[in-house]
Amino acid sequence: MKDIAWVIDPKNDKFEKILFRMRTFASGLLESKNIDLTFIAAPSLSVKILSMPQRKNLYLIFKEAVTNVAKYSKAKYCSVTLKNEGNNLVMEIFDNGVGFDINRSLLGNGLTGMKKSGEELNAELIISSKIDHGTLVHLFLAPL
Ligand SMILES: Nc1ncnc2c1ncn2[C@@H]1O[C@H](COP(=O)(O)OP(=O)(O)OP(=O)(O)O)[C@@H](O)[C@H]1O
Ligand SMILES: [Mg+2]
Repeated sequence: MKDIAWVIDPKNDKFEKILFRMRTFASGLLESKNIDLTFIAAPSLSVKILSMPQRKNLYLIFKEAVTNVAKYSKAKYCSVTLKNEGNNLVMEIFDNGVGFDINRSLLGNGLTGMKKSGEELNAELIISSKIDHGTLVHLFLAPL
């Protein structure tokens, strides 16, 4: 969990740095699976500073979502978007891959952990998926 130690290190407080690490992680992993990545971080996000537990949980959710895209989606395309809506932070990880039935699939440690991180963040976390259309992980965090 070297990654998590990095994320909670006060030296890496600036959201900009976390964004850079997120982008590097996603592009490396998805490139190896030939999945095109669009990583969009709204410029205004760069000045925001998250608390340590917020940084950790945001990163954990992001990492698990992208890992699942790489492992299961068979997608051509994945987008990661971070933006503000008012004082809220929205993060979306979308893939246009095979999708899965959320009600039927056994939740693995990943999805269960994501939900736990979402609860710790006091955030709204919605995972939606449609067979043959893809998967969307939507996180709504209020307030920054
Ligand atoms: N983006 C995705 N596209 C297609 N299927 C997915 C996607 N994300 C999750 N799944 C399906 O949901 C299941 C549960 O995911 P989850 O992350 O909880 O467990 P896992 O990845 O199998 O195991 P772990 O995360 O513990 O290593 C996966 O096995 C997979 O079938
Ligand atoms: Mg997983």
